[in-house]
Amino acid sequence: MSGMLNTPAMKGFMKTCKDGWDQGWHERNGGNLTYRLTDADLEAMRPFFYAEPREWVSMGVTGANLGGSYFIATGSGKYFRNVELNPEDSVCVVEINEAGDSYRIVWGLINGGRPTSEFPTHFMNHSVRVSATGGACRVIYHAHTANVIALTYVLPLTDRDFTRALWKSATECPVVFPGGVGVVPWMVPGGADIALATCEKMKKYEASIWAQHGTFVSGPDFDTAFGLMHTIEKAAQIHVLALSCGMGIRQTIEDDDLRAIAREFGVDIREEFLD
Ligand code: 13P
Ligand code: ZN
Repeated sequence: MSGMLNTPAMKGFMKTCKDGWDQGWHERNGGNLTYRLTDADLEAMRPFFYAEPREWVSMGVTGANLGGSYFIATGSGKYFRNVELNPEDSVCVVEINEAGDSYRIVWGLINGGRPTSEFPTHFMNHSVRVSATGGACRVIYHAHTANVIALTYVLPLTDRDFTRALWKSATECPVVFPGGVGVVPWMVPGGADIALATCEKMKKYEASIWAQHGTFVSGPDFDTAFGLMHTIEKAAQIHVLALSCGMGIRQTIEDDDLRAIAREFGVDIREEFLD
């Protein structure tokens, strides 16, 4: 068992869960994380898979480009706090069937359970981001980021308004997410509707905000995805702090300043969001 926990993918997965817990983003079972294994990860992990995998479970969605792939996923109802303490109970590895519409557990969740209730959303968004990034995307991460959530009560729920507020809240933001963020209106979590609405946004963006719920990011590896989550949430915190002074925004980073940052750092800022 410990051999499984020493594989680089499982170590990275557990570290990311602990880092998110340490940030205060994962009250109770809040949030979920999935990672698509590389061939090397699979080779390292396969010896530890169950001799008898659990039964196939239909996902209700299809990601044909992910047929035959494997994911590590947090379990539904499991606490991020416990991932590092009791990973065999808190996370699982799932195999996707060739059609890309069902999964089965091949390791983990030793006391029963199923992958995160957001697994169809994660899976569909892996499918979209794999296409959008030429196969580079491996991580999807959802967290209950308090400052982003707070802003969804006061800012207009548009991609443009949120992106501009975040870009202007910290100078590095346009470098970290020059493409901006999408905003998904309030929706029931865990269902096909929020999966599809998020996919529409993630065709364009690396990250989306779920109104009154949290943040949903993607990335090629754990550090990049976590760093994106962290940067967005910190920018939101700065915006909340500035607004909390109660004096309005007196000065900010202007649109031409954002263009200058993008030029200097060689990133392609989404010009349609600039005045
Ligand atoms: P799960 O415990 O099923 O992952 O749900 C937590 C959550 O944050 C839903 O959006
Ligand atoms: Zn959630």
